[in-house]
Amino acid sequence: MSIVNASDRLPPGPQSPLDLESGDDKLQRMHALWQRYGDCYRVRAASRPADTWVVTDPDAVRRVLVSNHRNYTKGIGIERVRVLLGNGLMASEGDQWRRQRRLLQSAFHRPAVEAFFPVYHREATALAERWLQAARAGQPVNVTEAVSETTLMAVLGALFSQDLAGVVDSDGRSPFQLVSEQRQRDLQFAVRFRALAGPIRDIISARRREQRFPADLLSHCLLARERTSGEPMTDKQLIDEILTLIVAGHETTAASLNWVWYLLAAHPESFQQLSDAAQQVEPDVVPGWDTLEKLQPVAQVIKEALRLYPPGWLYTRRSLQGDRLAGYELPAGTDVFICSWLLHRHPAYWEQPDEFRPARFSPEQQVQRHRHVYLPFSAGPRHCIGESFAMAEMMIHLTVLAARLRPQPLAGQPVELEADVNLRPRAPLCLRFSPVD
Ligand code: HEM
Repeated sequence: MSIVNASDRLPPGPQSPLDLESGDDKLQRMHALWQRYGDCYRVRAASRPADTWVVTDPDAVRRVLVSNHRNYTKGIGIERVRVLLGNGLMASEGDQWRRQRRLLQSAFHRPAVEAFFPVYHREATALAERWLQAARAGQPVNVTEAVSETTLMAVLGALFSQDLAGVVDSDGRSPFQLVSEQRQRDLQFAVRFRALAGPIRDIISARRREQRFPADLLSHCLLARERTSGEPMTDKQLIDEILTLIVAGHETTAASLNWVWYLLAAHPESFQQLSDAAQQVEPDVVPGWDTLEKLQPVAQVIKEALRLYPPGWLYTRRSLQGDRLAGYELPAGTDVFICSWLLHRHPAYWEQPDEFRPARFSPEQQVQRHRHVYLPFSAGPRHCIGESFAMAEMMIHLTVLAARLRPQPLAGQPVELEADVNLRPRAPLCLRFSPVD
């Protein structure tokens, strides 16, 4: 019989306190600790009584996110998010989360999402026109600004359809623009953002008064009824859900498209493959899922960009009861960090992990991989509800634009990472485009 030393039941880690959540070099520090201590390590933050475990073992990841998910709440990362989004789907827990997820789920099923393809296509076509003009004038394009605007318009279009025009003032400005214009996600932003409840309430009142429910996400929320009680969402819940969808649906997609364009500009051969596939698609016809499914080179580039630069680079959880993870005894109340950035570059699961190789996502290569080493949309019951929405939006964006425009990097523009709520470039990404011959 082996005698287990109490200290062996806990994972290794540095002795002195360490705060993993602050500073500009979080990713580098987590990576250095992973190199030293391996796939499950433990740190103690000076500011908190409980330990934090950082987990990059895919079986432990599956246990936390999937098979024993009821034992985990969202933990510290979500406290900041709650100030912004209230008790919407992203930040709620337990029965309230389950009820809301049931009410919203069917609006995000693949067939339902297809109803928004005309919005994505319209936004991409308008952007292609603007970038073509810049290309002809020999001017670089601020990609970060442009994809932020276009992804915001896509999610607003899917939420409010024609009612969006009603909140635009005489200068053509909408109150929602602050979401793409202000980059900081501080308290001042939270106050201004929560004030968007005003225009949202106005749209809701008009719809109820006129009994008008166009086929969009807002109508879905207004008409959704709890299965057993038949109750609709309260107005407070409605506002929290709409604000959640605006932020969750915009920032992550915008960050992803930044990385896609950055990588395509640096890899002309991958761009060429993608552009060739995109040129097979009729430019003025809104594609359906059937067309998107045939565009493998487009999907593979997006998936590889999400591997190298996952916008949700860190999932935080907190254990309710004790658990066993990666062979160690996890105490109740421990913060568990799942760092998708580390998992996505783990050399045990990815060959040449830092290289951009879209072919990793060919059907043959995908089936050979552990399901939980690739988590751009997380996994388990709390995985991203908007995955199909985002994938289709990004595929249509790229298909429309890459058929017409070729990106080139600007000299002397190194890209630095900012790992905050999302992983994004610290400074705006600017590229030069030329028309595809
Ligand atoms: C490339 C784009 C996107 C990425 C990478 C992404 C990623 C994620 C991830 C990783 C989570 C789980 C976070 C966690 O467990 O802590 C999540 C949750 C969520 N996402 Fe997305 N997302 C994207 C686009 C969207 C879109 C377009 C929408 C809606 C229009 C959306 C709505 C949500 C919501 C509401 C949740 C919370 C789900 C729940 O807890 O039940 N996301 N997303």
